[in-house]
Formats: sequence, C-alpha cells, structure tokens
Amino acid sequence: MVRYWLHVADCDECDPEKGIISFKERWKDTLSKVGNGDQVIIYLTRKSEFAGLGTVIDGYSLDERDADNPYKLLLKSVKVKPVKAKSLVPQLSFITNKKRWFVHFNKALYEIPKVDFEQIKTALIKSEKGSREAGEGDEVDVRIERLKREISTRAPTGIKGLDEILGGGFPVNSTILVTGGPGAGKTILGLQFLLHGVKNGENGVFISMDERPDDLRKEALKFGWDLTKYEKEGKLVIVDVSYPRSGLPSQEKYQIDMPFTLDNIVRTVYEIISDIDGKRVVIDSLPAFGLHFEDEAEVRIAIHRLNNLLLSSGCTSIITSEIIPGNIGISRFGVEEFIARGIVLVEIYREGKEYKRAMTILKMRETDYDLRRFAFIIGKTGLEVLPHKVVFFDEAARLL
Ligand SMILES: Nc1ncnc2c1ncn2[C@@H]1O[C@H](COP(=O)(O)OP(=O)(O)OP(=O)(O)O)[C@@H](O)[C@H]1O
Ligand SMILES: [Mg+2]
Repeated sequence: MVRYWLHVADCDECDPEKGIISFKERWKDTLSKVGNGDQVIIYLTRKSEFAGLGTVIDGYSLDERDADNPYKLLLKSVKVKPVKAKSLVPQLSFITNKKRWFVHFNKALYEIPKVDFEQIKTALIKSEKGSREAGEGDEVDVRIERLKREISTRAPTGIKGLDEILGGGFPVNSTILVTGGPGAGKTILGLQFLLHGVKNGENGVFISMDERPDDLRKEALKFGWDLTKYEKEGKLVIVDVSYPRSGLPSQEKYQIDMPFTLDNIVRTVYEIISDIDGKRVVIDSLPAFGLHFEDEAEVRIAIHRLNNLLLSSGCTSIITSEIIPGNIGISRFGVEEFIARGIVLVEIYREGKEYKRAMTILKMRETDYDLRRFAFIIGKTGLEVLPHKVVFFDEAARLL
C-alpha cells in the first residue's frame, strides 16, 4: 500500500530536486515504515513552503560517513515550483490548528492523508506549469534573482557600527548566536536589537531565563529604553522564566507554565509570537535554558525544535550563550553554532590596567563579513561598535 509522507527540511542549502533526503539517527523507526513507491512532499521550514515532490525508489539507507544525518531516502523527484504553505492551509485536513498552522511542521517526517497529499501535489505541479507558461525564462536566473533578493533583506540591529560591518543587519529570518563571557554585553545587545525592531514596527519577544523582568526593565531604563511603554502598547513581551526557574511564583503576565517541558516552552513561545505578531525574538540565555533538561541529548533536541519554530514563524532571533574556557567549540552545548546562521562573539580583554570590549563576527550567512575583532563600547545609549578600530590581543588577555 502506498503511503504519503511529508518531509520537513530545516536545512539552508538542501535542494528539493536533488532526490536525496537525509535524516538523523532518531528517525530510523519512522523510516522503517517507508517503502518503495511511497510518495513524499518536501516542506522547507526556512521559507515556509512546499518545495519538492518525489517517489521513494530505494527504501532508506545508512551512510556512515555522514555522522549528523546518516539515514538517506532516495527519491525520484518531479520538477515542481515551490508553493507557500499558508495558501493551502485552509484546505489541508492534517492542519487542524489553522491559526497556528506552522506548529504542524515540526517533525522531520510524518504520514499525511492521501487527500492532503494530492492537494499539495496538484498545487506544486500547477505552479510549475504556470511559471513555464508565463515564460519565466532561464531557471538559473530566477534562482539567482531570488537569492539576491534574500541577501538584500536585512534586519537592522540599530547598533551603531554593527550594521555597517554586517552590510545592513542580520539576515532576516535567521537565528544568530551571541556568545561571550560573563558581563561581556550579550543581554544588552539582544535587548537593543529587539527594541530597534519594536520601534520600527517589528514586535519583539524577550525570553528571560537569567534576569528577572523587573531587573531588566530597570537596567534598560539606564539606557533610556522604556520597556514598560512598549509592553503596554503590545509591541513587546518579556517572558519570565527566571522566577519559575527558582520555584517562586511570578507576578509577570507572561511566563512559561510549569513543568518546564519542551512542549510547554514551544507552545508558549508560539502563542506569544502569534498573539503579538512577533518578528524578533531573544532567548537569554541558552545555558540557563539547558539546566532544565536531564541530559545534553535532550537539550539538543530542544534547541533544534525551538529553532525550527522560530524560523518557521518568520522571526529573526538572537540566542545568547556562553563560551567555555578551554572548550574548542564556542558555545555551551556544541550545537548552537550549527543551528545558528550567524555567530557574534563578544569579549572583555585587558589592555594594561584597563578592561576593554571587542566584538567578532565569527559567521554570518549571506554576508561578506570581516573576520576581525572590533572594539565596542557600552555607552549611554547602548552598544556602539567602532568599525574602524580593529583590536588585537592574546588569549591570555581575555577575561572570561
Ligand atoms: N548603563 C550602563 N552603562 C554602561 N555600561 C553598562 C551599563 N549597564 C551595564 N553596563 C555594562 O554592561 C555589562 C553587562 O552587560 P550584559 O548584561 O549585557 O552582559 P552579559 O554578557 O549578558 O552578562 P551575563 O553573562 O552575566 O549575562 C556590565 O558588566 C556593565 O559593565
Ligand atoms: Mg546576560
């Protein structure tokens, strides 16, 4: 019996037409149910669109050279043109939550009813036919044009000097990891990025794991940022996770229900993003987030799922983390750098008797960035990067 599957891909580069789809170890059980002749539709999380269609030609196979995604499904793919998922939501029966339809796209592989499959398939084929008839010309050109458009879409941080280095800001709809030692400026950077959005029509959600919202509001006021005002206007939400974490009751309107499970977090974050139409999210910080889970494998799953949700809801997000002395990776769980489309490192170092700050862009997709350390300051109005002041220091001078 032919079965119908939906594959949700969260990779940036995967090409739905290539005919090979990859899965992590934990999908083995589901994959064992997939047989030759089964039909697969590919959904791309980053774009929130159905983008591929194919027939399974050779069950699943194991590729031990690919440690991250060892299981492969080979597809005979059909040429299609992507279709935005949102346009099909009303007709699809497996999407029961029509308002928060994107919550249904959070598993790498699952079976969908034939009738839904056929609807998506028809739309994909029609879309491809339509574009051919409209004479969209050379497909390569179309793809390059699309990439160019994406590159030019930036989420400005509002941090003087940083937008200059980044060519306008962070790439929109991406997750950026801001990492560094204690007191380096991670929280302030996140807040500043969020507020810049809020002031320019992009509502923001700040998930505070470390600091109590009241402390955050007070600290922000020192920079002249009146968080309460934006909260009252419904443009900003601070989610209190610091109180519940300590076991104390919180007076805050927004908090994550206990027990602190992945499902609760994901549900709450999603509800808030949908309620205020959030476009920017800051999770401060991931190490504090990780404390709630039994082991690191669980943390990894949580980070992946949270990241998928942020991307599929179209947000540009910052996750803060901390560098660990002597660790080769630059983040706490060793996965953040893989999910993040950009990494910003903030450091404090010693120069003579003074402590100074430096910022390095370690990775930034779609950006021609400079891999140098730039001086930055925390001044009266927040962070300011000095793009013309490149700094050098020995590891021994770094304060952790
Ligand atoms: N109003 C202010 N003016 C100048 N500097 C400030 C001001 N408020 C805080 N700072 C500096 O910013 C630092 C804290 O920044 P921030 O809270 O963003 O750091 P962090 O990297 O998030 O630290 P942690 O790892 O402890 O969470 C303080 O150590 C202080 O030196
Ligand atoms: Mg902090």
